[in-house]
Amino acid sequence: MCGIFAYSGPKNNAGEIVVQGLKKLEYRGYDSWGIAFSKEQKIDLIRKVGKIGEFNLEHNKIPESTLAIGHSRWATHGGVTEANAHPHVDEERNFAVVHNGIIENYRELREELQKKGYTFKSETDTETIVHLIADYAKEDTFVVAARKALKRLKGRFAMLVIKGDEQKIIAARRGSPLIIGVGDGEFFIASDIPAFLQHTRKVMYIDDNEMVVVNDKPHFYNFNTGEEVQKRVVEIDWEAESAEKGDFEHFMLKEITEQKDTIYRAINQNDSEILHLADEIKNAYGTFLIGCGTAAKVCHAASYLFSKVAKRHVNIVVGSEFPSHQDFLKEKSLVIAVSQSGETADTLEAIEVAKAKGSKVLSIINVEGSTMDRMSDYAIHIKAGPEKAVASTKATTSQLAILTMLAYACDGRLTEGKRLLIDTAGKINDMLNPRYEEHIHALAQKIKDVESMYVIGKAVNYPMALESAIKLQEVSYIHAEGFAGGELKHGPIALISQGTPCLALVANDETRTDILNNAMEVKARGGFIIGVAPQEEDVFDYWIKVPDAGNASPIVNIIPVQLLAYHLAVLRQNNPDMPRNLAKSVTVK
Ligand code: F6R
Repeated sequence: MCGIFAYSGPKNNAGEIVVQGLKKLEYRGYDSWGIAFSKEQKIDLIRKVGKIGEFNLEHNKIPESTLAIGHSRWATHGGVTEANAHPHVDEERNFAVVHNGIIENYRELREELQKKGYTFKSETDTETIVHLIADYAKEDTFVVAARKALKRLKGRFAMLVIKGDEQKIIAARRGSPLIIGVGDGEFFIASDIPAFLQHTRKVMYIDDNEMVVVNDKPHFYNFNTGEEVQKRVVEIDWEAESAEKGDFEHFMLKEITEQKDTIYRAINQNDSEILHLADEIKNAYGTFLIGCGTAAKVCHAASYLFSKVAKRHVNIVVGSEFPSHQDFLKEKSLVIAVSQSGETADTLEAIEVAKAKGSKVLSIINVEGSTMDRMSDYAIHIKAGPEKAVASTKATTSQLAILTMLAYACDGRLTEGKRLLIDTAGKINDMLNPRYEEHIHALAQKIKDVESMYVIGKAVNYPMALESAIKLQEVSYIHAEGFAGGELKHGPIALISQGTPCLALVANDETRTDILNNAMEVKARGGFIIGVAPQEEDVFDYWIKVPDAGNASPIVNIIPVQLLAYHLAVLRQNNPDMPRNLAKSVTVK
């Protein structure tokens, strides 16, 4: 969603550094952007609608300054216009604010400020913050005014404010990500670590309800109590190159290809910790797996694995629906939150609900130090490295690997589970070769102009059929739907006509015959059957071979669909990394 980037330090090209930082955040998805810096003691602004990638720093010289803040906006309150783009300034242009999240009480605050004579130039909730600070600053110092304003804001937010005549940035957060990168006498503040990875790997985490005054060194305070908070500098192990495209045309393809080794990395965990977490699952009075979108489909698949491998029932609920299930939570319940970013607002809210009930929370996440990581009782990091394409690929299979391993651990068979996954990782490595990609590209060529396509699966591959549909929808924009194979004859089969592509996700297990029969039912009505399966079957019109991976079949079956979605997107001239209307981390509810 929205991105924040700021610089404070000795370099006098702060504006350029911030524009470059925002370009690194481009993958999060946005519709407008802007920066603010100080010029002759007042705030100067550059704001634009559209892509920051098109802003040429050679042709657009930004005035010198040693401090600047920037923002890429994904519209929530107010349309996509220059006036609504951040930063927002007060009437005197003394202050500038950028903000992610939603200020829930902005209407009341706006009315209060309008009564005092403030005029608003945008439709955003953000503009209230800057006028509020300017109002308090009539009587108080910048820092005190910012703190007083922060105390009045309701909702989740991450924000930065600067004052034209002071060399400091004030940053604050509650519920939305914001991290400080610590360089050599200089500081970067961003909503996402990859934005400043080329400058530094040293970070300081800002926690909820904290504000940081950044000048010569960052000073942290709890903005509710005013107490100073001590912080450590933490070194993270992501390499700067891991956040770059390298020789790949798109991040999505790079990240699909990285699945050659991300499964190994995911399962390289401390065995005794995994066994301890398996005990937590076994001893819990009710385990709830929660996630949103693709992560929710991973949870759904895991519920089959826990059932089949560990003979254990787990509940699955999508993050946004979880608050309605809170009556089932007990102190001894366990919530397992699955997320790539660790910042998804609906999942965070679900965790808050669980914590309020006294339940324990285990997060399975990619981004270390993310909000979910920091608010959970336990965390397993999937170690997939930065995932920048909006469509989740490598994080999905790594999450599946961790949950498969946990299911085996719950049944006292951790070593067997790890062996299966190591074996699967090796098979994926063999599978992902140029000829394989060519075969999938040829299929994409064949079906690129279809209006609709369907995906069927059974048991653990049913959630993977749902996940396949998400992948196809979000980057190819082809209407796609996933079904349990057995459900088709109860209604959806009416949608099949001559040539309608239908992917069948097949595993070489007790479900094979049923799903092939379902595929046969579709074929009998004219469907074009694309089999994703370990062996060729008569019913297939096009066969995509996957290794026989036993209980790891969801991991191997989803990878060719990711590739198909990617090639369809490219052939249809869509940008697979930044699909329309979507954002990488969904930090609003
Ligand atoms: C789809 C996709 C989304 C995310 C969802 C949750 O490809 O990426 O559906 O899975 O927004 O995001 P995280 O995993 O960051 O919580």
